[in-house]
Amino acid sequence: MKKATLHIQIHISITALIMFLLKTWRASAFGVYGYLNFTRNAFLEHSKKFQPEDMQIRIEGKNCIVTGANSGIGFSTAEGLASCGATVYMVCRNKERGEAALSKIQSSTGNPNVHLEICDLSSISEIKSFASRFSSKDVPVHVLLETLYRQVNNAGLMEHKRVTTSEGFELNFAVNVLGTYATTELMLPLLEKAAPDARVITVSSGGMYTASLTSDLQFSDGKFDGVEQYARNKRVQVALTEKWAEMYKHKGIGFYSMHPGWAETPGVAKSLPGFNKSFSGKLRTSEEGADTVIWLGLQPKEKLVSGGFYFDRSEAPKHLKLAATSHSHAIIDSIVDTLRSILVSHDSKI
Ligand SMILES: NC(=O)c1ccc[n+]([C@@H]2O[C@H](COP(=O)([O-])OP(=O)(O)OC[C@H]3O[C@@H](n4cnc5c(N)ncnc54)[C@H](OP(=O)(O)O)[C@@H]3O)[C@@H](O)[C@H]2O)c1
Repeated sequence: MKKATLHIQIHISITALIMFLLKTWRASAFGVYGYLNFTRNAFLEHSKKFQPEDMQIRIEGKNCIVTGANSGIGFSTAEGLASCGATVYMVCRNKERGEAALSKIQSSTGNPNVHLEICDLSSISEIKSFASRFSSKDVPVHVLLETLYRQVNNAGLMEHKRVTTSEGFELNFAVNVLGTYATTELMLPLLEKAAPDARVITVSSGGMYTASLTSDLQFSDGKFDGVEQYARNKRVQVALTEKWAEMYKHKGIGFYSMHPGWAETPGVAKSLPGFNKSFSGKLRTSEEGADTVIWLGLQPKEKLVSGGFYFDRSEAPKHLKLAATSHSHAIIDSIVDTLRSILVSHDSKI
């Protein structure tokens, strides 16, 4: 064997070993940190410091969008905001599930100003026509909002198989990243009209602690792993929030990402059945998972840090110690460029 080939092989083996050790460390650190902080018991402990008056703020008539609002954390968020007097637009992909959730929220809150919008957030076409219904006079069926005070990007999923959408995107990426990006960008004009009170809240996940940013947004390299793709997507959401805060700091819009903790929801039962079973009785309720989302929606903006990552009503670290997940600005800049060009190139196709 030639000396140069041997050197390359040794180098590859060392890199693979380092990556393996790093992944193992990240997963272990996340498991321990999560067990100590993300369960229901931890929520009850953390909630001893919560101020009840924080949740008594009314946001009467303020327009709020909640995506994925028919189930789990999104349902509890929509219900919580509606009970504070907000006008809530629930964005759901399925009409029957959406209507059932809508009538539950209207009757539990007594708030008639809760509405349903049907949109599959894995499709840029659908997101664009949904955004048009809210902001353009050129569409026959329109809602025409003057202002948008709260945009809650909650819809998300963890798909274990590599599924491609009809528009050609890997499904986890399409909903968790591209859907979040497109919805937010297209709603910016309406959010600006609600400045300086406007805010965008993105429901990320503590799972992002195990991932660093990568430009392989659609997991095209290597063997597909849905759990890892989900973690990568959730990392992008946190970095994107930070980037939006920087890009739009003069527009009077606050951008926040958050982790709900480990909550018992239909999504967790479906995507992580083993975890759901072994943590049975230890998971938060969906209301507890939604607590920080609603809190971020209600607090005076001066109390909040735009670009911050929140957990249990406080700013939380974006990286675990020694996990080597911190990213350079260059990567998020190039990710934003990619997302923007997907959105723009889609424009030219329709
Ligand atoms: N539960 C947890 O422990 C936990 C932890 C960390 C982060 N999160 C995050 O919390 C958010 C809510 O999750 P959840 O646990 O409440 O799960 P869930 O019960 O499955 O809720 C997810 C919601 O997103 C909707 N959704 C999925 N794909 C969509 C699409 N293509 N278009 C429109 N809506 C779509 C779902 O609609 P359908 O009902 O039609 O499927 C559902 O309403 C997610 O972003 C998740 O990553 C949850």
